[in-house]
Amino acid sequence: MKNVLVIGSTGQIGSELTMKLRSLYSGNIVAGYIAGAEPKGELKESGPSAIVDITNAQQIAETVAKYEIDTIYNLAALLSAVAEAKPQLAWKIGMDGLFNVLEVAREKECAVFTPSSIGVFGSNSPKDKTPQDTIRNPKTMYGVTKVSGELLSDYYFTRFGVDTRSVRFPGLISYVTPPGGGTTDYAVDIYYSAVKGETFKCPISEGTFMDMMYMPDGLRAAIEIMEADPAKFVHRNSFNIAAMSFDPAIIASNIRKYIPDFKMEYEVDPLRQAIADSWPNSLDDTCARQEWGWKPEYDLDSMTRDMIEKLREKGI
Ligand SMILES: NC(=O)c1ccc[n+]([C@@H]2O[C@H](COP(=O)([O-])OP(=O)(O)OC[C@H]3O[C@@H](n4cnc5c(N)ncnc54)[C@H](O)[C@@H]3O)[C@@H](O)[C@H]2O)c1
Repeated sequence: MKNVLVIGSTGQIGSELTMKLRSLYSGNIVAGYIAGAEPKGELKESGPSAIVDITNAQQIAETVAKYEIDTIYNLAALLSAVAEAKPQLAWKIGMDGLFNVLEVAREKECAVFTPSSIGVFGSNSPKDKTPQDTIRNPKTMYGVTKVSGELLSDYYFTRFGVDTRSVRFPGLISYVTPPGGGTTDYAVDIYYSAVKGETFKCPISEGTFMDMMYMPDGLRAAIEIMEADPAKFVHRNSFNIAAMSFDPAIIASNIRKYIPDFKMEYEVDPLRQAIADSWPNSLDDTCARQEWGWKPEYDLDSMTRDMIEKLREKGI
């Protein structure tokens, strides 16, 4: 990786990934954004940025040519709950947009990372320790675009040799940029409520387990897979990765270790609950561990300690 374009750089992952890439690489790390979601502060000041709407193939091609981009991080998407409200737009961004990126990558010989999700799995997939290769039959538009995106990315590798790589992110938890409307957002919001001393209204019911990961591990996964020697790759799009799995009661009780009077009530959101019910309880990430050495660093307790400390430092 030398010169990198991050499409969707101002979102939850992009805002941190772009800064991390800039701290690691000396080439052009270009923050791609759309009107209304401009980079601000450090993200804006610390490197080049460009308007790159993923539905506009010409904008992608021009930016790739201008900055001699060799790697594209394609983070543009509508997240699971938002995609259900706007399924047509979710397809346009997730699939037409991906097609544009892959075509530019084919012509200009770029590597491409497009995150997939635990949302590729559906109610017929095995629930616990969901294997790498198993039934993927999601019923949400988010899941449909993610499965199709995995297939299209693999197609571009086998048919045209485009170096496509990807991980299936679990819910990512961070204190930096708020999440963009996913089903696992509650596991971020809960920390804000706890630190503010508010009662948290949990939109997901007790007993609903989902895979989660602390953002530093998620960023490391996104970078390590692109740096990995592909000689051992059996898979490409996309690898299960995992760090921890919990339900709302478990995370609440872990927070109470540090904020004993923290209170939570359940106020279940039927849309998010239905999506969560169709997703796995936990993933088996053996293939990622074997094929490119994936290993998480944070568990629930070390994440909770760091989240509370960092949110307090931010003055939340
Ligand atoms: N955050 C998570 O927990 C999580 C989990 C699994 C997978 N993912 C995947 O990771 C990727 C990034 O997620 P995120 O959490 O940062 O999402 P986000 O919603 O926070 O950010 C998405 C970004 O895409 C941009 N965008 C929207 N429409 C665009 C367009 N037409 N052209 C270019 N950019 C556009 C937005 O401005 C935003 O910067 C997505 O593919 C998402 O599905 C995220």
